[in-house]
Amino acid sequence: MTRTGAPVNVAPKIVFLSGSLSGNSKTGRIADWCAAHCARYRAVTRVFRGTDLEFPFYRHGGAADHGPEIHDYLRAMEQADAVVLVSPAYHGAVSGLLKNAIDYVNELTGPDRPLLDGRAIGCVAVARGEQGAASTLGMLRTIGHALRGWPTPLGVALSNDQALVDGTGMPVAERTRAQLQVMLGQVVSHSTLSARRRAARTPAGTRP
Ligand SMILES: Cc1cc2nc3c(=O)[nH]c(=O)nc-3n(C[C@H](O)[C@H](O)[C@H](O)COP(=O)(O)O)c2cc1C
Repeated sequence: MTRTGAPVNVAPKIVFLSGSLSGNSKTGRIADWCAAHCARYRAVTRVFRGTDLEFPFYRHGGAADHGPEIHDYLRAMEQADAVVLVSPAYHGAVSGLLKNAIDYVNELTGPDRPLLDGRAIGCVAVARGEQGAASTLGMLRTIGHALRGWPTPLGVALSNDQALVDGTGMPVAERTRAQLQVMLGQVVSHSTLSARRRAARTPAGTRP
């Protein structure tokens, strides 16, 4: 809040996780496009591609062994006002790479906002077929709830022609673009509330 009691206008921080290591990954390109779209609405965005998430298998109680890249990732997740999860369907489920990175969020035990408490969670599943897209999307939303997050009303399940994207990750199908834009709009509006609460908690004289 300002001295007049009006809410502080702070740019929301949104982290995007992409769960594929494939060369020229469709999942990664979609995450990039989603981040660029949110940046148009003043969000401060950060994309973790598959290669940024190649962490050792999560071990409960192993925090002392975390390397700098894991600390950096956890700091970004902790400070995020919203997270967008983009996963390929691997055998009807979230990729192991993404699930492992998400398991590290278990380390975020701060009293104010443990795990992803209160954050909007945008979910996108990218698959070859409809069934894999649907089951993966359902799983992403379940994970979001388990992390105490708020999966947005609309999640996006992409398969077949709906999953075609150009080199920048822009979906070829207008319907896919529209679905992603609606979901991202929900992420941005919820994350703006989170950013205001974050600013209100930040001690005077420090930057939120
Ligand atoms: C190991 C593996 C398992 C897969 N399992 C499924 C599946 O169960 N259902 C499905 O629709 N697509 C499946 N696919 C296809 C991927 O979900 C699809 O190609 C996706 O677009 C890959 O994204 P990427 O280009 O980012 O790697 C699988 C692909 C791989 C490599």
